[in-house]
Amino acid sequence: MADRFNNIIVTGGAGFIGSNFVHWVLDNQPGTRVTVLDALTYAGNRENVADCDPERMTFVHGDICDADLVGRLFADADACVHFAAESHNDNSIADPTPFLRTNVEGTFTLLQAARDHGVRFHHISTDEVYGDLALDDPARFTEETPYRPSSPYSSTKAASDMLVRAWHRTYGVPATISNCSNNYGPYQHIEKFIPRQITNILCGARPKLYGDGLNVRDWIHTEDHSSAVWAILTEGRLGETYLIGADGERNNIDVLRAILAAMGCGPDDFDWVRDRPGHDRRYAIDSAKLRRELGWQPKHTDFAEGLADTIAWYAANEDWWRPAKEATEAKYRAQGQ
Ligand code: NAD
Ligand code: TYD
Repeated sequence: MADRFNNIIVTGGAGFIGSNFVHWVLDNQPGTRVTVLDALTYAGNRENVADCDPERMTFVHGDICDADLVGRLFADADACVHFAAESHNDNSIADPTPFLRTNVEGTFTLLQAARDHGVRFHHISTDEVYGDLALDDPARFTEETPYRPSSPYSSTKAASDMLVRAWHRTYGVPATISNCSNNYGPYQHIEKFIPRQITNILCGARPKLYGDGLNVRDWIHTEDHSSAVWAILTEGRLGETYLIGADGERNNIDVLRAILAAMGCGPDDFDWVRDRPGHDRRYAIDSAKLRRELGWQPKHTDFAEGLADTIAWYAANEDWWRPAKEATEAKYRAQGQ
């Protein structure tokens, strides 16, 4: 079954989760070749896939909104896994424009090509399309939870999910969707919560916590996201949505204090900063459908160990993140964060 896909297009394969997925496929699926399509925005880095075997990975520098290029690539592919997106909430609040273009128009462009060429399409989405839960709510998100996105980012991801559903139902595009919780691991851009705090400490700067620090995120290691996506791509039922999560609910202050402790700092060695407007309170995923139907299980169930490995990766790869640090922090400073 897994060898059914000889040539898959991975959009956004030079970003955080996309590049981890490319490595996972090359390491675990010997029969599969990958074509990465990535525009190398501020969030994409060619280095993330520089060590891949050129016999099995082709890198194409291009935009998912470029219909001619996308059409040419889809003519030779049998599947597309679509990670490319503008992915950061704070940026979407400052300027939603590129989110509309890449997340909505880009997904539309890919779906048209999937339709024209009969390509199997897997759409990567987020649990943020479901809005948020109260801290004391026993509920978690399921595939039946109504869409209620809060931010420009999550609303454009919700829009792209709707396009995928419509293109499946109306045109018969062989598509699936997954909505995953917050990822952590190597190659994550330092604008995001965990790598921002790790690299602040490595620079001798204080970590920054938004609001009251009690917002909850449901953390999953990016390698577990990759194995779940492969299971859905190869064994998932067409037209279905699968939620991906690893029972990793934690509030931000606990995660920050775990980072501080692991890096030899005191529990209060951080700054409280301005909260994010519209800040979602809590995300929580019930991934029973994925586990029951496809037998998927996460491997990284020890968060402290995954975090220690992630800290070690950033400490060992300063050349990778240092060039982006000053500009990232300048942007946050201008927002009071
Ligand atoms: P990222 O910002 O690290 O990477 C995005 C990649 O897409 C970059 O390489 C960028 O160059 C590329 N890209 C952006 N616009 C493009 C365009 N127009 N054409 C071609 N390439 C373009 O993002 P990420 O955190 O790796 O997220 C990947 C996907 O996973 C996104 O769809 C996101 O919504 C989803 N997701 C992320 C998380 C998370 O915790 N980060 C959780 C659930 C779902
Ligand atoms: P983030 O990594 O931006 O992911 P998302 O908004 O998609 O959940 O943020 C994770 C959580 O951390 C979120 O509740 C906002 C908070 N946060 C901080 O407290 N400080 C920071 O410097 C950042 C970037 C985020």
